[in-house]
Amino acid sequence: MRFILAKDYEDMSKKAATIIGAQVILKPSSVLGLATGSSPLGIYKKLIQWCKAGAIDFSKVCSVNLDEYRGLSAEDDQSYNYYMSENFFHEINIDKSNTHLPDGMAKDGEKACVAYEVLIENLGGIDMQLLGIGHNGHIGFNEPAEDFPVITHCVDLAESTIEANKRFFTNIDQVPKQAYTMGIGTIMKAKKIVLIATGEDKADIVAKAFQGDVTPQVPASILQLHSDVTIVGDEKAFAKIKL
Ligand code: GLP
Repeated sequence: MRFILAKDYEDMSKKAATIIGAQVILKPSSVLGLATGSSPLGIYKKLIQWCKAGAIDFSKVCSVNLDEYRGLSAEDDQSYNYYMSENFFHEINIDKSNTHLPDGMAKDGEKACVAYEVLIENLGGIDMQLLGIGHNGHIGFNEPAEDFPVITHCVDLAESTIEANKRFFTNIDQVPKQAYTMGIGTIMKAKKIVLIATGEDKADIVAKAFQGDVTPQVPASILQLHSDVTIVGDEKAFAKIKL
């Protein structure tokens, strides 16, 4: 596990975007695992800028996103599908048909989850997975639990996650209570993982997840067992770890 200390949010975004950009330059047909939330927005902005300047070409890239709210369609402006189009796909030269997210409106959720796993496998697996981290240590929407969930599945969101994500909705009642997410096993199969953390409110969980015990009560802690993980954090998020 390597830690890359960034000065602030801007610097973190630039460093993480550079790692992802390098991945695409080294392997133009990369399968990128992508994330939502507020943390990756700066990365997407940088990548858009570099793509528009001709420095990075996404035309052969495929993407698979970590998660999607259950019950929200791609047209819903609160869906992760909409977020990805607006904040990234729309602005780069990726082929929209090469971008994938779990289907929030799937009639048969279980079948759709298995199909998502098969899709990732058929793409040849994820070359680089981008992750954020929730305050309770969730990655994707894998909430603290008794076991590490293996494959893409439907989850009941933790109260703290609903509370944290209400800022994106008009009121808390509009936050979906369930989501589809890649499993911990799906994430761990990615060849490389880049996790970003920003702000002092992430300092405790960063220390607990990456320098504490590996436990399903802190889902991100499993990343300690992956062979190629890079954590890019700003000074505030890294305030409580030993570098
Ligand atoms: C959501 C997403 C996660 C993300 C987390 C942290 O719950 N499902 O993938 O990592 O929020 O978000 P933020 O970066 O806004 O703190």
